[in-house]
Amino acid sequence: MATLRIGFIGAGNMAQAFAKGLIAAGVAKPQGIVVSSPKVDQHLLDQMAAIGCGTTYNNREAASFSDVVVMAVKPAVIPRVLHDLQPCVTPARPLVTSVALGVTLATMEANLPPESRVMRIMPNTPALVQLGASVFCRGAHATDEDVQTTRRVYLAIEALADGGVRMGLPRPLSLKLAAQTVMGAAKMVLETGKHPGQLKDEVCSPGGCTIQGVAALERGGLRAAFISAVHDATVKSIETSGK
Ligand SMILES: NC(=O)c1ccc[n+]([C@@H]2O[C@H](COP(=O)([O-])OP(=O)(O)OC[C@H]3O[C@@H](n4cnc5c(N)ncnc54)[C@H](OP(=O)(O)O)[C@@H]3O)[C@@H](O)[C@H]2O)c1
Repeated sequence: MATLRIGFIGAGNMAQAFAKGLIAAGVAKPQGIVVSSPKVDQHLLDQMAAIGCGTTYNNREAASFSDVVVMAVKPAVIPRVLHDLQPCVTPARPLVTSVALGVTLATMEANLPPESRVMRIMPNTPALVQLGASVFCRGAHATDEDVQTTRRVYLAIEALADGGVRMGLPRPLSLKLAAQTVMGAAKMVLETGKHPGQLKDEVCSPGGCTIQGVAALERGGLRAAFISAVHDATVKSIETSGK
């Protein structure tokens, strides 16, 4: 299968994770990726240039280059940025994908020319270590081939099993998603060398849904429960072995 030309709008956490994951997986070559971001983010663009990707301050340049555009900016700016891309988007090219939390297919289609092909994806940062996981849905004009391309680009799938089932996912899919999440998070800790708290901070936007979930875990005493589990199991094991 031919390698894809991919444009990232935004050069932050998601763009960095995805670009590196795509290159590592051989889905795109560094020279097949262009990343655009405002001038203030020069250090982020420099990081992308260091791995061989093209960089620009002009979002339209990235879109014109690409078979697939990944909208990797904050949800609030998506409508404005899509609107600005209109002259570069036709039904033929590029496929416009978004990872923005809460931005619907309808919003994407409303801000692009008629019959634009759009996909909405919800991924996570373990894409950095090729253990990312995503769910996606297609816009009205996205083709079966676009679905295959999206699968190829957004490598896997994830969510937390019980939460996923509660929110209506079938149990087998939900379990697969949960397992992938835990494996991805563990690999992120091992391969990046970062403290888990730092990795957590990097994905928690102020007032966002991730910190909401973290707060729910803290409210439920998850941290204390893990510490107690290790303590109690150790005590029991010592008692059992008679030491
Ligand atoms: N991080 C995650 O784990 C995660 C998971 C799932 C989905 N997402 C989604 O992914 C998207 C990006 O998240 P992120 O964590 O990568 O955010 P981020 O690190 O803040 O990256 C966004 C980047 O886009 C730049 N930007 C702002 N306005 C722009 C414009 N008009 N044109 C081009 N670039 C622009 C920002 O620059 P400035 O900082 O200078 O404004 C920033 O560098 C969000 O919509 C989020 O909902 C993130």
